[in-house]
Amino acid sequence: MKRKISGVTIELRKGDITRQKDCEAVVNAANARLQTGGGVAGAIHKAAGPQLEKEAVPLGPLEPGEAVITGAFELPNRYVIHCLGPVYGKDKPEAELLANCYSNALDLAEEHRLPSIAFPAISTGIFGYPIEEAARVAITTIIGKITEIKHLKNIVFVLYSSKDLEVYEKILEQILQGKE
Ligand code: APR
Repeated sequence: MKRKISGVTIELRKGDITRQKDCEAVVNAANARLQTGGGVAGAIHKAAGPQLEKEAVPLGPLEPGEAVITGAFELPNRYVIHCLGPVYGKDKPEAELLANCYSNALDLAEEHRLPSIAFPAISTGIFGYPIEEAARVAITTIIGKITEIKHLKNIVFVLYSSKDLEVYEKILEQILQGKE
């Protein structure tokens, strides 16, 4: 599903974040120390190779909501933007911290004049953030900043399951229809 808002395309895709060849940057749902980890982070580090951890670790530790940028090494992208999402029920206020991830990642992409970026559903795996709530925060934050965007043309949300994709589709439609 794709929707164009203020000249920027928002696309919802089912897939693996490590296989987004048409995106200049991919976002990592990182851990505070920027080490390999599991989930998205494990997949990104495995696909990028050991140089990613070497470049990323000295940029940490991150606080929830913060983001840093590195090269992408063996991934089919130019950059990885690493965000530390909040642990649901622990890092508060969680919606604000999750929104900061998306906002800070967009700022880094704009500073680097990137045309495209792919986001996973940050915090919704090991960190336990319910997918509907997280989707609402992610989409609202991106749409809230869309008129400030100068360089990005495509913003992609990469969802790992059909169920998560359906949730994002429903919430994007609700937000665009002004129901939220
Ligand atoms: N591509 C896209 N999405 C993926 C992939 C993948 N290859 N692998 C997992 N996902 C999805 C999960 O289904 C979940 O919806 O990404 C979402 C985020 O899950 P996690 O990777 O567990 O990230 P998060 O909840 O932010 O937890 C971060 O997990 O791996 C550790 O080191 C990491 O401590 C950090 C924590």
